[in-house]
Amino acid sequence: MSLRTFSCRILSKLLNPGSPPAAAAVRGYHGAGRPRCPGPGGAAHVRVVDLRSDTVTKPGPAMRQAMAEAEVGDDVMGEDPTVNDFQKIAADMFGMEAALFVPTGTMSNLIAVMVHCRERGDEMIVGDLSHLHIYEQGGSAQLAGVHATTVTTLPNGTFDLEQLESKIRHGYPDPHYPRSRLICVENTHNIQGGRVLPLSFLQEVRALADRYGLSVHMDGARVMNAAVFQGVTPSTILQHTHTVSVCLSKSLGAPVGTILAGPREFVAQAVRCRKALGGGMRQAGVLAAAGKVSLLDMVGRLEEDHCNTRTFAQALLQCDPALFAVDMAAVETNILRFSLKDPSLSPAEFCARMGQVCDGEEAALGQGIQVLMYPYFGNSVRAVWHLGISPEDTQLAISKMQFVVSQYMKEKLGVQ
Ligand SMILES: Cc1ncc(COP(=O)(O)O)c(C=O)c1O
Repeated sequence: MSLRTFSCRILSKLLNPGSPPAAAAVRGYHGAGRPRCPGPGGAAHVRVVDLRSDTVTKPGPAMRQAMAEAEVGDDVMGEDPTVNDFQKIAADMFGMEAALFVPTGTMSNLIAVMVHCRERGDEMIVGDLSHLHIYEQGGSAQLAGVHATTVTTLPNGTFDLEQLESKIRHGYPDPHYPRSRLICVENTHNIQGGRVLPLSFLQEVRALADRYGLSVHMDGARVMNAAVFQGVTPSTILQHTHTVSVCLSKSLGAPVGTILAGPREFVAQAVRCRKALGGGMRQAGVLAAAGKVSLLDMVGRLEEDHCNTRTFAQALLQCDPALFAVDMAAVETNILRFSLKDPSLSPAEFCARMGQVCDGEEAALGQGIQVLMYPYFGNSVRAVWHLGISPEDTQLAISKMQFVVSQYMKEKLGVQ
């Protein structure tokens, strides 16, 4: 370890006395435990640009005011006017008969699986890199008794339709086989870097599902980003699915909450499952008021996140020396995945360097800048833009990236 790197780590420790060591664990399929990137909390003169996730957003003044002023009632009794109003707005916006406000995306997906796959041992078909399959603790098996079979997630988040069709079971009621019930798609695709599912793909998936009497559920945690990217209404996308789960607490900036929408009968069943899972909330209008602001006022600014993401991606590509591999055609929304071409600079080390303030940094950049991002699947790095990141923050992140690269090259070449 060079003296410079060593002093860098000491300084990082001083600035973040509570933070874990700088080496970051990969947040991937086999990642062990919590990622160990330093969290925010540096000294006052250090700017933090937090690109770990769009879940880190905090409600702004207008949202907090709406929450404070919300009319509330007991929502388990169906008496919260703000929740009722919000659910109606969401159903209309998504082109669905009804909608239900639930605490999280994970619960929403689980409820959808429970309602679509009513018999224990029913089977759903999911992408092998879907959030539902990888990051939701196998809740559908654990809590709903639903079996999953996987299809390969292609780099753009789609599946091969022949492979998808080959996964459909035809043996029922032969006691050897589960019964296929559900196909789940994810839009935008998280692990594949915010990729947007083409409308033609959704149309084909729906046609296949209709042919075999299956349902289609979309984990649309970020479907509003997809709609903005494609320049269509969300209902144009969702006409191809039976149900959808849309998170309010990611790009849309609410502190909590997800909408699950679909046919009236589906939502009536979903109310029962939500209660069984402990998700029946009482004066939830305080939270639904934030969700309303998310859906009505926050969608218009998503293009800004997409633009900032592209700006950073371009800067990576233009970096001299060419240390980064970025597929610009794959940069569609607010999630960026890129890899490092130099095997001696791992994604974990790059993230650690971006997240700490080094000797000479303040002199070079005018201030210390901590840029937080995660090492990710397939030896890559993931960075996510959101309403807490301005164009100026993006420029700071670019300056920091250029500084990290120049420090790394000096160390590599032994320049003092
Ligand atoms: C695609 C996708 N689906 C579902 C979820 C789960 O949402 P929650 O964290 O609200 O449970 C996430 C969270 O990041 C996600 O990215």
